[in-house]
Amino acid sequence: MLSLFKKNKHTITTLFPETYIDIHSHLLPNIDDGSKSFEESTLLLKKLSSYGIKNFVITPHIMDGVWNNTTQIINQKLFELTNYLKSQGIDDLNIRAAAEYMIDANFEKLLSEKDLLTIKDQYVLVELSYFNPPINLNEILFNIQIAGYKPILAHPERYIFYHSNYKKYYELKELGCLFQLNLLSLSQHYGSKITKIAERLLKDNLIDFTGTDTHNIRHLNTLETINNSKLLKLITPILENNAKLL
Ligand SMILES: [Fe+2]
Repeated sequence: MLSLFKKNKHTITTLFPETYIDIHSHLLPNIDDGSKSFEESTLLLKKLSSYGIKNFVITPHIMDGVWNNTTQIINQKLFELTNYLKSQGIDDLNIRAAAEYMIDANFEKLLSEKDLLTIKDQYVLVELSYFNPPINLNEILFNIQIAGYKPILAHPERYIFYHSNYKKYYELKELGCLFQLNLLSLSQHYGSKITKIAERLLKDNLIDFTGTDTHNIRHLNTLETINNSKLLKLITPILENNAKLL
């Protein structure tokens, strides 16, 4: 069967501008479902660096009862990773850490204490459950902004409950939410429905930022296969936006 789209010999891994900063990854070892060791983190960072990505904000999960990370745990782990990379002679990467906050009761507590790690300035990366959105999501988005933060919603294309209620994406944007697309959504990694919505969100100019959401080497092997020229054309200008968070 003929491919629906023309194949491109370039893959997404050749398109990152020098100013690109990957604002979503799980490369701090052993504190969530991402990297399992300093060695694995190093391998993944080297691979990402080979794509021309030199700037990172690593974002471990903070999820009540599942990943009970704190600002202190994350900062300590970043310190250890930075030292490990130095010991391996890697000194050309700019690495910070923040978090991917699940919007749950713990998040609301951290928000009230203003104890949130930001991607940069006031930008906070948040995610929703894949099963259903919080009932009081609008109120929480309002409270985030009242507290002086700017919410970036991680991978909006992956929330299947919005697929059949597409206007909700516009509502979220109107409520002040910025959108971060996962680059892996341009592959079949999460399934074709998610690729379709990713494409639609891009076409509708709803995507603000992108991230790799790297957890492991399989993710990068998949990233290297993304060569659909139609999707690459849509994503290329958006890759420039991350420079705002550098
Ligand atoms: Fe993530």
